[in-house]
Amino acid sequence: MLSTSFMQESTRLARELGPVYKREFFNLEFTFVTGADLVAELSDDRRFEKHVLPALEVIRPMIGDGLLTAYNHEPNWRAAHDLLMPAFSQTAMRGYHPLMLAVCGQLHDHWAGADAAVDVTAAMAKVTLEIIGRAGFGYSFGSFERTTAHPFVTALKDVLNHGQRLVTRPPIAGGFLGKRAGERNDADIAYLKGVVDEVIAQRTGGDRGADLLGLMLDADTLDPAAIRNQVLTFLAAGHETTSAAMSFTLYYLAAHPEIAARARTEVDTVIGSAEPEFEQVAKLRYLRRVVDESLRLWPTAPGYSRVAKQDTVLGGCYPMPAGEPFFVLAPALHRDPVWGDDPEAFDPDRFLPERNRSRPAHAYKPFGTGIRACIGRQFALHQIVLVVATVLQRYEPELPAGYELRASEGLTFNPIGLRMHLTPR
Ligand code: HEM
Repeated sequence: MLSTSFMQESTRLARELGPVYKREFFNLEFTFVTGADLVAELSDDRRFEKHVLPALEVIRPMIGDGLLTAYNHEPNWRAAHDLLMPAFSQTAMRGYHPLMLAVCGQLHDHWAGADAAVDVTAAMAKVTLEIIGRAGFGYSFGSFERTTAHPFVTALKDVLNHGQRLVTRPPIAGGFLGKRAGERNDADIAYLKGVVDEVIAQRTGGDRGADLLGLMLDADTLDPAAIRNQVLTFLAAGHETTSAAMSFTLYYLAAHPEIAARARTEVDTVIGSAEPEFEQVAKLRYLRRVVDESLRLWPTAPGYSRVAKQDTVLGGCYPMPAGEPFFVLAPALHRDPVWGDDPEAFDPDRFLPERNRSRPAHAYKPFGTGIRACIGRQFALHQIVLVVATVLQRYEPELPAGYELRASEGLTFNPIGLRMHLTPR
């Protein structure tokens, strides 16, 4: 993880400098957009489109034209998008629910009898990795059985961190990362591709399986390299974003016992102490608002980048030449004045249906926008609500005395050093 807080500092500056301002970060320049009205305008896919950020471009050697990093004109984006949309729909979640439950079971076995404060971020990372590994390509990383990370996980992290270092290094350190780091990165990428290719090869002969990989193999519209890009994309895009969102949600519940009590009462009423059924998860309306509010204050992906298709003027006064990227800084947007006088206050009821309706539609963007918005949104939300509900069924999570929330940032925000005491109910 990189020790930077550039996005957090830029968020703090929004009140003073917003709604549009430029900041430099080593050799990168960001034009931030933080105002809800301007973000609404930028969300118009007829005038604007996704820009593949340098931080995403540098991981193309690993995931190529996979959904997250594809340029808008690349044909595999459309082919994969059309094929996979139904597999990520709310209805499709029914199919993933049992494997998500099985991973919850592993989490609670892992935590059973813990007498010291547990490492929440590490545990949530295991949960989401196991879920996406199994749903994506029927693979278990054995995260709960191992004492050290699976080599696949280490390689994936190293590649993502190497990419971050490449875009954030000062120009003077151009040669610093050097040949050795480059070679190691190439070797990591070759290893990751090899593992996925092996799973694909095993499937092509026989049973194709009922996971996302099986769906792609059955459809026959993507070649094996494109399929491998998608599998690695799900791991890169869907693992830490989701685990960090679980961790922030648990943090806010532990920090606000009255909110936790209300969420727990809901869980007790809707589910009781049995295993949650698929339909019950969507009925946890209050808990879902807690998750939405956590993602408002800490949208775990700090934002996304947009470009104008043709020269234009944003909000009637900010010239936006075609192709010049503007970055929607989600944590600053989520503190825009449309959120009221006290945007730092944690208040899940901001997401009551009537209050949602009274707010401008594009004031909340944790999952990006338009046609290139997050395909894994439902998948992420179902598992976050489910996992947190199973924690509330069993425990009263409590923060160690004096814990103050701080977040690391890279491709995602994640709480630093978040531990909790789990008192069984
Ligand atoms: C809380 C969890 C998550 C957050 C906050 C999140 C956030 C985002 C954001 C902001 C984007 C837009 C990126 C851009 O415009 O450059 C995005 C795209 C994407 N996300 Fe997620 N994501 C989450 C979970 C997931 C999961 C679980 C998966 C897969 C299983 C996933 C897969 C993707 C993919 C494939 C794209 C690219 C979609 C496209 O361009 O067609 N995400 N996500």
